[in-house]
Amino acid sequence: MKNFFITALGLFWGFQCAEAAEEKIIRISTDNTDLVLQVAENGRLYQTYLGEKLLHESDLKKLDWQIHPASDASVSPRGWEVCSGSGNEDFFEPALGVTHADGNASTWLYYVSSSTKAVEGGTQTDIHLRDDEYPVNVTLHYVAYEKEDVIKTWSEISHQEKKPVQLFRYASTMLYFNRPAYYLTEFSGDWAKEVQMSTQKLEFGKKVVDTKLGSRAAMHTQPFFMVGLEAPAAENQGEVLMGTLGWTGNFSFTFEVDNVGNLRVIPAINPNASVYELQKGEVFTTPEFIFTLSNKGTGEGSRRFQNWARNYQLKDGKGTRLTLLNNWENTGFDFNQNILVDLIKETKELGVDMFLLDDGWFGNKYKRSSDTAGLGDWDVTADKLPDGINALVEAAEKEGVKFGLWIEPEMVNPKSELFEKHPDWAIHYPNRETYYYRNQLVLDLSNPKVQDYVYGIVDKLLKENPGIAYFKWDCNSPITNIYSSYLKGAQGRLYIDHVRGVYNVMKRVKENYPDVPMMLCSGGGARCDYEALKYFTEFWCSDNTDPVERAYIQWGFSQFFPAKAMCAHVTSWNKNTSIKFRTDMASMCKLGFDIGLKEMAAEELEYCQLAVANWKRLQPVILDGVQYRLVSPYESNHMAVNYVSQDASKGVVFAYDIYPRFQEKLLPLKVKGLDPNKMYRVKEINLMPGTESTLEADGELFSGDYLMKVGLDVFGFRPTQSHVIELTAE
Ligand code: DGJ
Repeated sequence: MKNFFITALGLFWGFQCAEAAEEKIIRISTDNTDLVLQVAENGRLYQTYLGEKLLHESDLKKLDWQIHPASDASVSPRGWEVCSGSGNEDFFEPALGVTHADGNASTWLYYVSSSTKAVEGGTQTDIHLRDDEYPVNVTLHYVAYEKEDVIKTWSEISHQEKKPVQLFRYASTMLYFNRPAYYLTEFSGDWAKEVQMSTQKLEFGKKVVDTKLGSRAAMHTQPFFMVGLEAPAAENQGEVLMGTLGWTGNFSFTFEVDNVGNLRVIPAINPNASVYELQKGEVFTTPEFIFTLSNKGTGEGSRRFQNWARNYQLKDGKGTRLTLLNNWENTGFDFNQNILVDLIKETKELGVDMFLLDDGWFGNKYKRSSDTAGLGDWDVTADKLPDGINALVEAAEKEGVKFGLWIEPEMVNPKSELFEKHPDWAIHYPNRETYYYRNQLVLDLSNPKVQDYVYGIVDKLLKENPGIAYFKWDCNSPITNIYSSYLKGAQGRLYIDHVRGVYNVMKRVKENYPDVPMMLCSGGGARCDYEALKYFTEFWCSDNTDPVERAYIQWGFSQFFPAKAMCAHVTSWNKNTSIKFRTDMASMCKLGFDIGLKEMAAEELEYCQLAVANWKRLQPVILDGVQYRLVSPYESNHMAVNYVSQDASKGVVFAYDIYPRFQEKLLPLKVKGLDPNKMYRVKEINLMPGTESTLEADGELFSGDYLMKVGLDVFGFRPTQSHVIELTAE
């Protein structure tokens, strides 16, 4: 009867329901993982399997016990529905919630059709679903990157109802697990305290990790997580789900354990204050959720993400990166043309590729001499930089280095000509006292005119100064005073349409200036998602550049990002530590400096020059090689990471003593990823001038097998010491 009904419905809506019967099993596979979906007798789509790849196609048919409860086959299966709508027989958190034009808030989705196609790096599966009572369509998209073992999934929601519908839930996907226990690792923090990892057991009910900050959205928690299945996630063993949402605004991850101990994982845009009025024919596209299911721990999962990002997602993922000297920590707002020209000379002296001018170069009526004024007025401050940006570009050219520039184009200070002219372009209440974060407001990017204006900032700068080789794009404020004069009665769209507006601008910049590398920054690392990183070559991990704190921050971000995307600068934070320790810590990521050379002793400068040259030489191994996290700062008083080139001919080991205990037991460091049958010359590099390696193995030849099974003695008892070791196959 039900099948007849669906067929009739299919004919009515113009889809071929015959496919529902024929294409009952949909397999989404990578080299090591299977996600199996199946249409049940009731015509709806269920997840029957998510786990290690199954060897025999014939076994897929046997998975349907999940959707035919033996106890009572007449009852619709509960749970495991791939896109569970609200108001059905599933009593837990839905993936989709729609209030239809007539006020009914239920949605039941039936399978219509599916197809697959080859896309860059993988296979895309598209599955069309439709409500049986309302003309609401949902398309589920999955791209399986076979080789990298990563799956990317998102959904599209649309309708043909006569009047708009209200979306109150719009998850990117919904995944289920049936395991003995679940342990969530989250990445929370604050300014200068990003990605602090903590793990907790999930019990019955919901745990929600979300953000409501709007634009500096990931300030308190990052858009990624890990769930250890059965046991807490571990580096080298155990099954772990690692997932991240590509969304630069409010996101939410819901983890719900139900009454029978199953876990559902729901990544989504945070629907808080965002009931979205969807017009007839409009398509609501959710952000991409990207995940991997590793049964060899988080190390394997991270390598998959790092590979996948470099191959397909990160802007210029396969390209090289520029080392740089920034001036923010050195001068703050306090600089002029002469000071900058001197710093450009220092850039050359240090041996890095580029000078990066930070905040404070713009505004005339309202000068940007502190963070209280000027944002929005992107003309160079005439009395500070009388010869403009071009003179700095020329000074850089003269020294043979590049010139990069800081901007924060999505923001406005109320003390600015822009705000005087267009107060309605800033998000703020018409009827309440305005409150400020860092003395600024967020421009309303839901408004296309504002998008044009923001794009125009970058466009004008690059047209007038074609020598600008790089942008650092900052975003220092969350959205405060959430009201858009542009959206008027449709305020539920603001948080979402604002982010889409931001993407429109970033997309235009990338399309028109594809070769300009850009750093994504948000008051430190509050923006670091894989949607924004389509438009950015790298991101700023944190304003905290104390090398001890950085050990944890870099460890945390490396779970999801390649070193190539992670900017790390040597600064004066924690000057109690040596310049070597600070530089060696930054060298495990994309190296930069933000320090005046004049404050260095001669041998410190000499050391930095050497370290820069070494880093540049080893960039292909560090940024394009395979990363192995060896010793965690969370689990020891040390940290170690090694990189191996794709052909295993070269390796670089970074080993740090953070705060060792008195006479604690020190173990040899077992390197990973080498060729066991190759012989590697061990050479300590990045030595302070006039010093020699203290490592016994320095200069010796070892087999990869030895280095991986026996290891090297690298750790010591003195606090904040480091060793960088180059391994070269002979
Ligand atoms: C916050 C960034 O994280 C810093 O590096 C610096 O660019 C400041 N903003 C400038 O205002």
